[in-house]
Amino acid sequence: MAMAGSAVGLGNIWRFPYMVGEHGGAAFVIVYIACCLLVSLPIFFSESIIGKTTRTDTFGALEFLAPKAKNVGYVAILASFIILSFYSVVGGWSFNYLIRSLGGSFNGLGMEQAREVFAGVGSSPVESVSCMLVFLGLTAMIVVAGVDKGIGRFSKISIPVLFVMVVLIAWVSLRLPGAGKGVEYLVKPDFSKLDAPAIAAALGQSFFSLSLGVGSILTYSSYMKEEDNVLQAGAWTALFDTLFAIIAGFAIMPAVFAAGIEPAAGPSLVFETLPVIFSRMGVVLPIIFFLAILIAALSSSISMLEVVVAWLVDQKGMRRSYAVLAVFAAAAALGSACAVVPRVFSSCDFFSSNVLMMIGALAFALIVGWKMPREEVLRHVRFEFVYSLIRYVAPIMIVAIAVTNLL
Ligand code: TRP
Repeated sequence: MAMAGSAVGLGNIWRFPYMVGEHGGAAFVIVYIACCLLVSLPIFFSESIIGKTTRTDTFGALEFLAPKAKNVGYVAILASFIILSFYSVVGGWSFNYLIRSLGGSFNGLGMEQAREVFAGVGSSPVESVSCMLVFLGLTAMIVVAGVDKGIGRFSKISIPVLFVMVVLIAWVSLRLPGAGKGVEYLVKPDFSKLDAPAIAAALGQSFFSLSLGVGSILTYSSYMKEEDNVLQAGAWTALFDTLFAIIAGFAIMPAVFAAGIEPAAGPSLVFETLPVIFSRMGVVLPIIFFLAILIAALSSSISMLEVVVAWLVDQKGMRRSYAVLAVFAAAAALGSACAVVPRVFSSCDFFSSNVLMMIGALAFALIVGWKMPREEVLRHVRFEFVYSLIRYVAPIMIVAIAVTNLL
């Protein structure tokens, strides 16, 4: 459940639905699923095997398995930290919007006003920094409570609740007059839109959505029990994550088209278009929507914080509470810069997704595919073809998308 929580996040809600529509509907979904099966899942398994066999943090695990590549551990931990910082800014906006919807301030909101509200939220340093701190503080509170009592318990409760909320929103959204166009946008297959950038986008999205390359899955897997199964954990996480992304698409796009608005991606979709649409349907729906986003973001941010905390605890011998406090302070600093300076935000996003995550993912696949004893890997993945995917397909594809994205 914690892995599902890590995977399901803002990536599913504000990027996936838009990407599907942009890149050819059902055709893109097919490519996305193929990318998950052939590349992302093998990397997921690799991270999981590394975590489960070494039972330690990302740096310690690499140092043990591949001493020469141990510094990649720092790359992954740094990436986790950077993602935590800018993710918390968006988490803070979600918190801000939840409070606003609780106060009923979206009643009768028009598109113009919605733009003004969001511009105001983004450009007020006090507001964005304080909301970011609240979000980071909530993340820290869950992580400080421990792996079982904090992360585990939060995920077991919040993920089912989140699922119900999104299904509910989809149900409302699909019944709106004019929703059919949104459904068409999502499902109508258009194979002519499947060019190389679309495929690279699918792969990049599936990496981000499955939280790969920064040690989140590695660290969570280090807490697995002996009898837990790596193949099963990965398959369920990917299945749930994809299902959730598709349902989020049906929650969002029909409402967007029913309102006669052009779909957009990213912040403007979630923080401008949707408040307008959902506020037309009473006061409760915006509350459910922003609560869902907040929960989805929190269950992901705890997995980023845990990577850094596990390193400080395992390698530096810090007490868990001090480790959480130290990372909170550092992420608060970088997060504030991201909240106030848009360029810092976008550089953090770009650099972590296109460079650091790729280095991490490549290292994980190579270590499991080429460094660990074959029998040991096969004991976890069972099938010869999965082993080949880890050895050949995943590394080649990572290099290919890294090059495509950077060119
Ligand atoms: N998967 C999450 C999402 O879709 C984000 C996330 C959590 C993440 N942990 C990560 C992304 C680690 C990259 C790396 O929103």
